[in-house]
Amino acid sequence: MKAPTPYDAIIIGAGAAGLMAAFTAGQRGRRVLLLDHAEKAGKKILISGGGRCNFTNRDTAPDRFLSANPHFAKSALGRYTATDFVALVERHGIAWHEKTLGQLFCDGSARAIVAMLLGECEIGGVDIRLDHAVTAIDRPDDFRIATPHGSFTAPSLVIATGGPSIPKMGATGFAYDVARRFGLKVVEPRPALVPLTLGEPDMAFRALSGVAVPAVARCGRAAFPEAALFTHRGLSGPAILQISSYWRNGEAITLDMLPGHDAATALLAAKRARPRAQLRTVLAELLPARLADTLATPGNLADLPDKTLAALGTRLNGWSFTPSGSEGYAKAEVTVGGVDTAGLNQKTMAAKAVPGLHFVGEAVDVTGWLGGYNFQWAWASGWSAGQVL
Ligand code: FDA
Repeated sequence: MKAPTPYDAIIIGAGAAGLMAAFTAGQRGRRVLLLDHAEKAGKKILISGGGRCNFTNRDTAPDRFLSANPHFAKSALGRYTATDFVALVERHGIAWHEKTLGQLFCDGSARAIVAMLLGECEIGGVDIRLDHAVTAIDRPDDFRIATPHGSFTAPSLVIATGGPSIPKMGATGFAYDVARRFGLKVVEPRPALVPLTLGEPDMAFRALSGVAVPAVARCGRAAFPEAALFTHRGLSGPAILQISSYWRNGEAITLDMLPGHDAATALLAAKRARPRAQLRTVLAELLPARLADTLATPGNLADLPDKTLAALGTRLNGWSFTPSGSEGYAKAEVTVGGVDTAGLNQKTMAAKAVPGLHFVGEAVDVTGWLGGYNFQWAWASGWSAGQVL
């Protein structure tokens, strides 16, 4: 007969999804061991949202997530909602506010969210062991996890180790290695919610580092009306971070820097009304001064052919550029791609072909928009696994 194990489940990764899965299972009476190689739990939560943690989004809906299977996230997101997480936050007396676009932030520090999750783990009797790097996983019968501090066994294993974004914080592609080792596929991961870089043809724009414009960034069918920010390497700001998740190397992005205005018509009307006005003066009425300086040619509007003004207007409403690349995992908030959902049960996050093995959070090929969506996925997928451990 098989010897009983001291744990019902081992969860690797004490981040957002792992902590959620751990206390959900623990509070259902399961004996849970939570391992992490870091010295602290929830390190990404602590730095998130500029230290205030944008912990969810009121407008969470499945169409705000990228995945090879856009239907996969529906079940978990529908069963554990933003309202559920807000209720938890309020039970812990954490003050919060809506910033913009449904984004909910702590009034104070993100530390309150980590303390809340750890408090819930304590209620659930979760055994948390930090500084435990996993050196091997095998499955002679139950899952056996080796660490430098000893081996642990349990019939269920949850991989909650996130994606490789921000490697200097200890982020790894560990989940993908485990998935492949157990025969699951991995949708090619790439950095997302990441600043984009510009190449030689767009050099002039690099002089604009620090200038922000309200814009609409478009790539394929995706469009995001938010601020774009010029940086010394290229472009950032919410509109660009959002569109970066949809962008692939070699594709063009268009940026409308005068959303809601027909720039060509406005410039031609200005020429008729004020022919002696300088182009720079007129542009500076519509755009940040430094951007107007970069785009303007010297001279009166009257001296400029209609064709030139119309072409400039068209460019303002749809500057098309092909980024030379992105700033990569070092600067990416998340990773698009990950463990292929085709091999997972959408209700339990369990691997269909490997009983007892689950993947949750960013490790899975489900990636949210900027604005609290990624944490909501971590909570929802962690909670879903926690129901069945
Ligand atoms: P997460 O990365 O949180 O946790 C993984 C855990 O696994 C870590 O504790 C890590 O140490 C551990 N681990 C990794 N490899 C391991 C290994 N081999 N062995 C043992 N342990 C291992 N999202 C959002 O919704 N709102 C926001 O405000 C922000 N802000 C933000 C800012 C910044 C700077 C970044 C980088 C990211 C965000 N995000 C965000 C994204 C959000 O942080 C991210 O989607 C979630 O943390 C993912 O949660 P997971 O639990 O899946 O992984």
